[in-house]
Amino acid sequence: NTEEELYRPNFHFTPKKAWMNDPNGMFYYNGYYHLYFQYHPDSNVWGPMHWGHAISTDMITWSEQPIAIYPDELGTIFSGSAVVDISNSSGLGEVEKSIPIIAMYTNHKDFGNGKVKQVQSIAYSNDEGKTFKKYENNPVIDNDTIKDFRDPKITWDEDRHKWIMSLAAGDKIMFYDSKNLKNWNLLSEFKKDKNSKDGVWECPDLFKLPVKGTEEFKWVLFVSIGTGGPNGGSSTQYFVGDFDGTNFKIDKEFEKSLKENHNYWLDFGKDNYAGVSWSNARTKDGAKLMIGWMSNWDYAVKVPTETWRSAMTTPRKVALKKDDNGYRLISTPVQDLNKYRGTKFKKENIAVNGITKIIGSESIDLASTEINFNLNNLDDKSFTFKLSNKVNDTLLFGYSHAKKSFFIDRKKSGKIKFSEKFANKISYAPRTSTNKNLSGTILIDKTSIELFFDEGETVMTEIFFPNQPFSTFSIETKNRELLLDYIEINQLNIN
Ligand code: FRU
Repeated sequence: NTEEELYRPNFHFTPKKAWMNDPNGMFYYNGYYHLYFQYHPDSNVWGPMHWGHAISTDMITWSEQPIAIYPDELGTIFSGSAVVDISNSSGLGEVEKSIPIIAMYTNHKDFGNGKVKQVQSIAYSNDEGKTFKKYENNPVIDNDTIKDFRDPKITWDEDRHKWIMSLAAGDKIMFYDSKNLKNWNLLSEFKKDKNSKDGVWECPDLFKLPVKGTEEFKWVLFVSIGTGGPNGGSSTQYFVGDFDGTNFKIDKEFEKSLKENHNYWLDFGKDNYAGVSWSNARTKDGAKLMIGWMSNWDYAVKVPTETWRSAMTTPRKVALKKDDNGYRLISTPVQDLNKYRGTKFKKENIAVNGITKIIGSESIDLASTEINFNLNNLDDKSFTFKLSNKVNDTLLFGYSHAKKSFFIDRKKSGKIKFSEKFANKISYAPRTSTNKNLSGTILIDKTSIELFFDEGETVMTEIFFPNQPFSTFSIETKNRELLLDYIEINQLNIN
């Protein structure tokens, strides 16, 4: 069917059928990366939430599993996290020494008339995350007063040997600790102020990261906001600071730059939301691994697919660096994507003046590619990469010197009318790097583009729905000639 052919991604996770939103409960155990997700199995729009499930040995090819957690008398199952309870601190391992997986999620109960109750519950698995039993004394955190009170994300605090949990409560993050994952004590609150962005706070994540190339460690807090993102709608902001076992405090220097210019977004594109990290997986250099929901509440329920709705982003490695401009997160596609590289086209020293075609579909399937490029002396130049097809759908992206920003323009990218918020504006991401040269990695799938500029310092992810596959990839400059040092295009052979 044409929907499958045209829109089912080649290398991004989608459920076989029905509605999906946030990634949930990611952990790594016994050779498998686990990904759960907000799932409404009976429809292609949001509804009573379950936890769907998928597993992978490399985070690139996924195998969907049966639904892991179903709604119960306390409500439907909203977002949350899962940890491998290695020491059986919960005592929920079935036989002595069995290692249980503990999931913590929000039970959401809707009484109608806008009255809802959100409480936190846990469930445990003694078969490596396949099936879960609900804990008998749920909820583990009750609540009668706070309207938005959700998305528990557990981290192991290795410095203090206890579990830490971050919870979103409308306009603040509440931190808890626990020794056994069952009894939780409120530690402190981190409140929204004028340096943080508006919109209901959701899906927090607090974790420690090494600062690249130093002996220093910092703590990073992700806070997703449903509305108010840099290019409209949903987006994820982050804060860099310190956590002393009780309080999270923003780093003084970081706070200063935040005041000057709030551009601390995990991703400036419109389609990376509610991203959180794998609870117990890191790269060799100590970076975290994460994945996001590749859509936006502005239009997610209206995107033009019927069988399924929404995909996840390519999983990313998230590291922290510090330079003259202060701390900044850097995100790059996970390493394992490289092992799917097939045919490679490499061109060097391309002088671009006007439109230059780089490659056409006769040599490569553009909808499954990884492109790396470098250009010397960006200077005062602007350029536009262009994906196009025979019916004149075009997706434009590149760098605008006038705005000192990267951009994605999907105004003519195919089906756009399903929501006026989808393509009414060009999305921009200010360039923060002061490097003379510009390097970038571009991931293209059938319905998405992910841009990693300046080694992952600025990232943009957006989706699109062309009427036919894109068949030509070109680059254009106006006014100034540009020298593209090199560009290499790798076919990704995922299936
Ligand atoms: C974020 C979110 C979460 C909530 C879930 C419900 O997209 O609103 O806060 O737990 O989706 O599906």
